[in-house]
Amino acid sequence: MFKEISDEKKELKRLLSSLSLEEKIGQTVQLTSNFFSEDLHAVKTGPAAEIHLSEEFQISQVGSVLNVTDPSEVKKIQERHLAKSRHKIPLLFMADIVYGNKIIFPIPLAQSGSYDFNLIKLAGKELAKESYNAGIHVTFSPMLDIVRDPRWGRVMESPGEDVYTVEQYARSIVQGIQGDKDSDMFSDSHIASCIKHFAAYGAPDSGKDYNTVDMSELRFRREYLPGYIAALEANARLVMTAFNTLEGIPCTGNEWLNKEILREELEFDGVLITDHSAIEEMIAHGYAVDKRDAAFKAAKASIDIDMMTSSYANNLKDLINKGQLSEELLDESVMRILELKNDLGLFENPFRGLDLESTGKYLDESTKNVAKELASKSCVLLKNDKHTLPLNKSQKIALVGPFGDSKLTLGFWAFTGDKDQVITLKEGVLQHISADMLHIHSGTAMFSEFNFPDEFSDPAFRELFLGKDVNNYQKDSHEAIKMAHGADVIVFAFGENFLETGEGASKTSLMLPKDQICLLKELRKLKKPIIGVLYTGRPVILTEIEENFDALLLAWYPGTMGGQAIADLLYGEKVPSGKLSMTFPRNEGQIPIHYSQLNTGRPLNADNCNGRFISRYIDSPSSPLYPFGHGLSYCDFVYKNGYISSMQLSPDKEIVLSIDIQNNSDFDGDEVVQLYIRDLAADIVRPKKELVSTERVSLRANECKTVTFVVNSELISYIDKKGNTQLEPGLIELYIGRSSEDIRSQFTIDYVSS
Ligand code: BGC
Repeated sequence: MFKEISDEKKELKRLLSSLSLEEKIGQTVQLTSNFFSEDLHAVKTGPAAEIHLSEEFQISQVGSVLNVTDPSEVKKIQERHLAKSRHKIPLLFMADIVYGNKIIFPIPLAQSGSYDFNLIKLAGKELAKESYNAGIHVTFSPMLDIVRDPRWGRVMESPGEDVYTVEQYARSIVQGIQGDKDSDMFSDSHIASCIKHFAAYGAPDSGKDYNTVDMSELRFRREYLPGYIAALEANARLVMTAFNTLEGIPCTGNEWLNKEILREELEFDGVLITDHSAIEEMIAHGYAVDKRDAAFKAAKASIDIDMMTSSYANNLKDLINKGQLSEELLDESVMRILELKNDLGLFENPFRGLDLESTGKYLDESTKNVAKELASKSCVLLKNDKHTLPLNKSQKIALVGPFGDSKLTLGFWAFTGDKDQVITLKEGVLQHISADMLHIHSGTAMFSEFNFPDEFSDPAFRELFLGKDVNNYQKDSHEAIKMAHGADVIVFAFGENFLETGEGASKTSLMLPKDQICLLKELRKLKKPIIGVLYTGRPVILTEIEENFDALLLAWYPGTMGGQAIADLLYGEKVPSGKLSMTFPRNEGQIPIHYSQLNTGRPLNADNCNGRFISRYIDSPSSPLYPFGHGLSYCDFVYKNGYISSMQLSPDKEIVLSIDIQNNSDFDGDEVVQLYIRDLAADIVRPKKELVSTERVSLRANECKTVTFVVNSELISYIDKKGNTQLEPGLIELYIGRSSEDIRSQFTIDYVSS
């Protein structure tokens, strides 16, 4: 780093002023490794395989590299670059280390349901450490898009449907990746965090990826913006734009969004990068006539880095020379990029963190332990009739289903993950029982009947989704059933193939493959207890099959250590404690669905359920199959002695709320106690429930603990459509519960403004 703080900016300014126009433009361009050398490769997404860079543009002037994650490639590219670059400005290496580099943590949708935000922060720190050792400087994580439509494949990358949950997740993971705000930013092995996708990418019409997003400014500010704000408050140094339009304007060219809200209102002075090829996509959106126009609109919208198009590279010079764009605008962008490089210490050491021997470090026990604990805490026990779980070590197990011994448990955005390190469920179970107690047969494929539309007749496309060995997936279900005859209990490990989730994997049906369902129904005929272990990146529709399970554990995609974490839960060595961060609907017709909807003028309740003109469905219950916040335990938790210090809240007097949680069982376990509020009458109507606080409490067998919440005026305030915080006098209901539907204690308080 340049020496004294006060001198640093001067040095950077001096450097900036010594750059030619072409060199400055180069800093705003991000390319994959194949642009730097023929023999190198990187993960490519999007339609920009051929980006038509002009002859004039020099690769040696580029500012950053996309998705190079191999340490030796990083080294090679940086060395070559520095040898050619006139000013020796180091390249920034940015990559999608979304929820783990070599050791993969559970998908974010799972992580957030642990409600253990310290642990999530630790996962961020471990993820940063592995990336740092690989020479990566920036990760494109976290994704903070609120999600309420499980047809959208990318829900797996999000912390879920709830504002409070996304905010807490955002703060913790950004601090974990970058270091705490003031004290240790980028110290040790921390790297920079790029939050995405700004903004509201999680609300595409009809759940179809890249589709239009349109919502009121009120909803945007109240529900979609707070997660990004929380990350910026934790000092996230980069922001990535979203692919979608918002109110008819692509986010990448949206001046209201990027300048008025992000730069001015939220005072973000970090680096704003586009999503992959998003500048050029403004042409297809119908917002720009050509790449030049697209570059102009992106630059006006304060975009600093063009990811993988030639729009900036080929056009900024002409736009500036012709006076259409000011050079000052470009200078501001370049300054932000140089400042980031400087803050990361790259001028001092362009090979920051790079450790060619780092492969050994992937085996770091601390990373694995965090991954295991997080997997354990984020699995959700959806159902457990007659205490089917935990298993007893004397029971003979038939482990059936395509996930029984599968390593495909990392989820979609885990391309860097080390598959060899993955612990399968079978391996996990074998840590508890001897091999003669376990019989295993997959019985069926992960994919059986996947109805690709006609336009996808190309075998290469099918392979992209189904994997290379699709034809080897035919398995014999009769063998599996025969094997299960001899068992005391069946563990059925089933779910979605990870390629059916993630980017570009929207679906209209959220049912699981037919063959898996048929196999399950056949197994049911054996009249043995069946425990389902569900692997998925989204809420799927379980309505028809749920009755076949005596117990059902949602594993999500649990990451590298999943098999061990799940087996520990199955055998009661650990007790499930995860909660649902996203509602499980009964059917696709209920989508979009989330717990924090408005009440309507005609809400459904016990008194009017036989009436006609009520807000509900006539062909399906209106309630979800499993509500937000749901998650059972082996412990029997009794909530008692609800206490409130006062029924009146005022700006200078907070209320203390408490409840005793009694663990009436022989298990030690954790409970996530949830506090919801409802404002009964407000100038702008508020949801029928809003989660405002959670407390994860550990209770020994038969122990009782008091959980306390402090309710102050900030907790009950709301955001209006101008983004201002509002507080109105009136009645507020407070609910303490085990889920959004399972409320155990309730109070009504009066907020008085003076
Ligand atoms: C995704 C981003 C990702 C980027 C770079 C895009 O397709 O939307 O989330 O960070 O590619 O790989």
